[in-house]
Amino acid sequence: MDAAMVARLAGGEGWGLLQSLPPYDEAQALPLQLRLREAGFDAELVAAALTQSRLRSRAVDKFGAFANGMLFTPDGLEQATRLPIAARHAHRYAEAGLGVVHDLGCGVGADAMAFAGLDLEVSAVDSDDVTATVAAVNLRHWPSAVVSCARVEDVRLPSGEAARHTGLWLDPARRVTGVANAQGRTRRVFSLEAISPSWRQVLALAETAPTGVKLSPGLSHGAVPRGCEAQWTSWNGEVLECAVWWGPLVTTVGRTAAVCSDTATHVITEADAAPATGRPPLGSVSDVGDWLFEPDRAVIRAGLTGALVASVGGAELDAGVGYVTGDTASEVAWARRFRVVEAMPLSTKSLSRWLRDRGYDRVTIKKRGVTLDADLLRRQLKMTGRGKGGSEATLVVTRIAGSQAALVVTPA
Ligand SMILES: C[S@@+](CC[C@H](N)C(=O)[O-])C[C@H]1O[C@@H](n2cnc3c(N)ncnc32)[C@H](O)[C@@H]1O
Repeated sequence: MDAAMVARLAGGEGWGLLQSLPPYDEAQALPLQLRLREAGFDAELVAAALTQSRLRSRAVDKFGAFANGMLFTPDGLEQATRLPIAARHAHRYAEAGLGVVHDLGCGVGADAMAFAGLDLEVSAVDSDDVTATVAAVNLRHWPSAVVSCARVEDVRLPSGEAARHTGLWLDPARRVTGVANAQGRTRRVFSLEAISPSWRQVLALAETAPTGVKLSPGLSHGAVPRGCEAQWTSWNGEVLECAVWWGPLVTTVGRTAAVCSDTATHVITEADAAPATGRPPLGSVSDVGDWLFEPDRAVIRAGLTGALVASVGGAELDAGVGYVTGDTASEVAWARRFRVVEAMPLSTKSLSRWLRDRGYDRVTIKKRGVTLDADLLRRQLKMTGRGKGGSEATLVVTRIAGSQAALVVTPA
């Protein structure tokens, strides 16, 4: 799709066609395409409208009902911030009293829509003309939002008094353009060195104005600039991003985790993870308590498992594994709790016997802190579910006091 086709889709005939399409159904796409062409619509416009219909159906997960009034590119949709998370970004600018946001690499405009939705004036650019045209369509409801096709390095940012009310937002592309895979998507890049705009550009811009940047959740703790907040955010258990904030956009200096879902948000900070008087470190598997707690992955990525140790008065099974054991059935909204049925050093022979003696014939394997091929272990344990009438055990394979250990647990 080129920018001219985006304009056609956004125009009277194209938009009318797009809005008249039934909910996307892959099985019906071809017959529908034929019917529309027979009805006199141009073949290219029909193909583009059906592609949009397919992208919109996928976009509902991120944008809810808004998806049906938006346009997308495949990469733009994949890289777009989920709307509730974009709203969290936008609130930082509003709460910092910044009335203007420059979205430098706006993609299809998800974050820009959230800024505009909070009445912030938005000046958005993207270096890709199709993407910029799509973003302009998506931001059409907000007259105070302006989108143009430009490279970040060519944007003239305000200085002096105007700069005092201006914030910068960057969500650098984590892809290499031009190296498309079989599905037409470009390859994902996780290295801080390979993002565009570059990390060096981001750091330089952050010296000029309050700045926020969305990065991969794989960001190493050592890369977080001094005085900033780095917030790892998860949505329904999946870690989506690590956003770094400067100046008045910082809520809490240091590493934080935001555990978000449709129903609640919990923010965990380094202060929550301050050394607690929990249990002493484990010396062996016999020190495992009645309960096992697993924090949300954003908490683990942020290195804040200590907050869970403090919350349940427990101990981490081993430094850095991210599992915490405790003696009381504490409820922590951002952690899963399991009852510990058995804890033993990892020996496939004794574990296999233990499981078979109790009627198990298959296992769900959770692992952390160990390198392990779960399928191989399943075969070694003969827990492939081929027996009749057996039940399923949940097995946690991890490290305790430096040695591999297996815990049989039941989710609470
Ligand atoms: C991850 S996307 C932004 C997604 C956006 N925040 C959203 O939620 O929809 C990054 C965008 O930055 C653009 N980009 C990459 N390098 C750029 C540069 N040097 N100048 C302007 N835009 C750039 C890409 O074309 C891409 O659309």
